[in-house]
Amino acid sequence: MLHVGIVGVSGFTGLELVKLLLHHPVVSIDYIASRSHIGEPLSSIFPSLNSICDKKIETIDEDRLKGLDVVFLALPHGVSMELACRIHNNVRIIDLSADFRLAKDLYEKWYKTHLCPDLIETAVYGLPELNKGKIKNAQLVANPGCYATASILSILPFLDIIDGDVIVDAKSGVSGAGRSLREDLLFSEVASSFRAYSVAKHRHQPEIQQVLSEIKPVSVTFVPHLLPINRGILATIYAHIPTIYDEAFLFEKLQRFYINEPFIRILKDLPQINNCAGTNFCDISFALDKDNNRLIIISVIDNLLKGASSQAVQNMNIMFGLKEEEGLNLKPYYP
Ligand SMILES: NC(=O)c1ccc[n+]([C@@H]2O[C@H](COP(=O)([O-])OP(=O)(O)OC[C@H]3O[C@@H](n4cnc5c(N)ncnc54)[C@H](OP(=O)(O)O)[C@@H]3O)[C@@H](O)[C@H]2O)c1
Repeated sequence: MLHVGIVGVSGFTGLELVKLLLHHPVVSIDYIASRSHIGEPLSSIFPSLNSICDKKIETIDEDRLKGLDVVFLALPHGVSMELACRIHNNVRIIDLSADFRLAKDLYEKWYKTHLCPDLIETAVYGLPELNKGKIKNAQLVANPGCYATASILSILPFLDIIDGDVIVDAKSGVSGAGRSLREDLLFSEVASSFRAYSVAKHRHQPEIQQVLSEIKPVSVTFVPHLLPINRGILATIYAHIPTIYDEAFLFEKLQRFYINEPFIRILKDLPQINNCAGTNFCDISFALDKDNNRLIIISVIDNLLKGASSQAVQNMNIMFGLKEEEGLNLKPYYP
C-alpha cells in the first residue's frame, strides 16, 4: 500500500487527486491539508463528495509528511517551493505548480526569485511520454502545465521535420485558472463570450519552448484563449515544414512515436474536448496544408486531469513501479 498526502486539497486539482486516489487500488490517502477549512470534512467544501469522502482537512504541517511515500503539492507557484525546500529529503514529491519546471534563470524571469534553485536541478519534468525513465527514480517530479502538456505532446512527434518556428493557438476551460475568486472569471464575464488573454506573455510559453529546445532549437509563439466551458483544452499548432510528406507517412510517424503510450490516442478525425474530458487521454490529429507547407496539429486534453491531477497519478505509478494505467481507467464524461 502506498501512503500519500495531498496539500492544497481545497482547490480544483486537489479535489481531482482525491477522486482519483480514492479509487486507486494500492493507495491510502493518509493526509489531506490546506490553508483554510482546517478540521472540516472535505465534503463540506465539496458537497459532491458527500458519502464519498468525509476525511477531515488538516493544517499544512511538514512533520505529518514524514513517513508518507509521496506527497502531491496542489498549491500555487511560490507556495509550493517554500514547502518543497523543507520536505524534499523526507518524502518524494509530485509538484503540480510551476516551481520546478523551468531552469532557474527562466523561472526568475517569468515568475519570481527561487528559494531553492539547487532543487530545480534535481527535479524531473513529469511528462511520462518524454521522461519515463527519469521519473522512475525521481525524488521530485515537476508535473507539467496544462497548456504545455497539450502543446508538447502534439509537437514532439514532428519536431524533426518542422523548421523551428511554431505557433500554438490554445483554448482552455475556466477551471484552468483554479478555484480562487476573480472578477474576470465571473459567469457573466465568461459565458457566451470568447477572448484571448496573456498574449505573448503567458508563462507556459517558456515551458513549452524550454522542453522542446532541449531536443531541437525551436521558437514558440503561444496565444491562450478562455472558453466558456468548465474543463478541457484544445490546442491548434501551426508549424512550417520545408518538405511536404505524404499524409499517410505522417500518420504512421505519429502512430509509431506513441506506439507504447496508453494515454495518447491518434485520431483520423479532428479531436474534440467532450470526447476527452474526464480522462487521462491526449487526443491528437493533424492536417496538411500542402500549398503553404504548413502542418496543422490539433490536440485535446482535460486540463484538470492529463493537464494536472491524473498525469500526477500517472507519474506516481511510474515512480513506484506500478502499472502506468493503475487507477486511471477513466471514461470520458460525454455527453
Ligand atoms: N487548474 C488547472 O487546470 C491546473 C492545471 C495544471 C496545473 N495547475 C497548477 O496546480 C496548482 C493548483 O491549481 P488549482 O487549479 O488546484 O488551484 P486552486 O483551485 O486555486 O487551489 C489552490 C490550493 O492552494 C491553496 N493555497 C492558496 N494559497 C495558499 C497559500 N498562500 N498557502 C497555502 N495554501 C494556499 C488553496 O487553499 P485555500 O482554499 O485555503 O485558498 C487551495 O487548496 C497551481 O500551481 C496551478 O498552476 C492547475
